[in-house]
Amino acid sequence: MKTRITELFGIQHPIIQGGMHYVGYAELAAAVSNAGGLGIITGLTQGTPEKLADEIARCKDMTDKPFGVNLTFLPILNAPDYPGMVRVIIESGVKVVETAGNNPVEYLPALKEAGVKIIHKCTAVRHALKAQTIGCDAASVDGFECGGHPGEDDIPNMILLPRAADELEIPFVASGGMADARSLVASLAMGAEGMNMGTRFLATKEAPVHDNVKQAILQATELDTRLVMRPLRNTERVLNNPAVERLLQKERELGAEIGFADIADEVAGKYPGVMQQGEVDSGAWSCGMVAGLINDIPSCQELIDRIMRDADQLIAQRLEGLRAGTAAI
Ligand SMILES: Cc1cc2nc3c(=O)[nH]c(=O)nc-3n(C[C@H](O)[C@H](O)[C@H](O)COP(=O)(O)O)c2cc1C
Repeated sequence: MKTRITELFGIQHPIIQGGMHYVGYAELAAAVSNAGGLGIITGLTQGTPEKLADEIARCKDMTDKPFGVNLTFLPILNAPDYPGMVRVIIESGVKVVETAGNNPVEYLPALKEAGVKIIHKCTAVRHALKAQTIGCDAASVDGFECGGHPGEDDIPNMILLPRAADELEIPFVASGGMADARSLVASLAMGAEGMNMGTRFLATKEAPVHDNVKQAILQATELDTRLVMRPLRNTERVLNNPAVERLLQKERELGAEIGFADIADEVAGKYPGVMQQGEVDSGAWSCGMVAGLINDIPSCQELIDRIMRDADQLIAQRLEGLRAGTAAI
């Protein structure tokens, strides 16, 4: 399949693996890229430019296909060494950066001069338009369904994607709630040029996380995520568990008075324990509603091959059959 996204990034299939904290290591990024998609290493998980350089080198040892690096710009005082990470990305010859969070404008000139393509993750059409204005090459439009941070507008992809298609000139991928060929074909119908998946790639053989995490996703239904930190305007969709219940109880009790310190026990520094030690009930961790559509743990190659094969059938048989009036109904 050829779309503006496959052409922009030089990939075979219009499928991207979004950056995921303590998940997006070289093993997963390389597996996705080797399967014809675009794998993404999560920059902040590495913590320093030196470690990011090592991780990029490891990924290059595992694939000769294009892969990217996610840079999530956090609104915090003690910011990580973003300029150093940008330098490492450029020096190592990585050609795609997925930006997320705060406006990445100050890093764009250097990245663009080095020929790096930038795809910015947005949860609102106005943010995607801003990304287009500042010179991003593409957008990843992340609906309310998504695992992680859906923003504060709560617009699901059935509305958000066609709205983005109406407004944007740069190509965009659909993100949030994407799992299979149905997701891909529907996204293409709504004007996207491909899709970005997080939670689905978390439940793959190569995702370098504890099996408890994968089993928790398999067991979860679409009813099992919760939105936390809304009172702090830092809303995150996470898998429900006892720690999340405690956190939500505090949010109800403290109301507008709540501060980050009140919920730090449930959210701060939890990812290593969850992802590496499998302590899935120890705190809040991102997970999308799409968990309800995830019932197996395939390899990335199996997953992407299945999506592309089924998409072909869906378009050529079901949709074409319906159009021509030859489909069995
Ligand atoms: C465990 C987990 C960690 C994530 N960490 C990040 C991150 O560090 N930076 C980022 O931009 N997005 C992060 N995301 C969001 C994903 O990149 C992607 O946009 C999102 O998962 C899409 O929704 P889906 O889970 O329904 O596929 C994370 C998602 C998950 C599930």
